[in-house]
Amino acid sequence: MQPWEFVIIEDVVQRKNIAKNTFSGYYSSNAPFQRWLTTAPIIIVICANKKRTASRYAELSDIWVYIDVANAVQNMILTATENHLGTCWIGGIKKDQVAKSLHLPSYVEPIGLLPIGNAAESVMSKNKMKPEWVTHKAKYNKPYFK
Ligand SMILES: Cc1cc2nc3c(=O)[nH]c(=O)nc-3n(C[C@H](O)[C@H](O)[C@H](O)COP(=O)(O)O)c2cc1C
Repeated sequence: MQPWEFVIIEDVVQRKNIAKNTFSGYYSSNAPFQRWLTTAPIIIVICANKKRTASRYAELSDIWVYIDVANAVQNMILTATENHLGTCWIGGIKKDQVAKSLHLPSYVEPIGLLPIGNAAESVMSKNKMKPEWVTHKAKYNKPYFK
């Protein structure tokens, strides 16, 4: 169904406006939105076109549309990383305002932003779930890794 659609924003004024439609986060400093986003030269607005999945997936459509789009975005993040570009999935957006500012039709839902640019700094690897915490052998809670 390929229900993904992307609005690519390069203009600096539009980048600032779209960043204002985010909720504040860890790196917002004192701003009420994620101001750091505006330093990325490109912001891609990730959208889910629900019309594309509705006829095929029926009642599952509302969930599967997001899974499909998330798969596409994961590939974009991997490709950007492979090309030494920095990116980050931004989920904290004010959807109604984003949709209105981009003139999205009702069946196209913005689900996040993907800023892409040269990373200002390299990051330390964060703590991750250990494989043994998230894997089970044949049945739940039977350890796969000893
Ligand atoms: C669904 C989703 C929404 C996210 N929303 C935001 C966000 O609004 N702002 C932000 O700075 N990072 C956001 N992130 C990025 C995470 O905070 C984190 O940096 C990213 O998943 C990479 O994780 P890692 O640094 O542990 O590899 C989001 C990640 C996901 C998966």
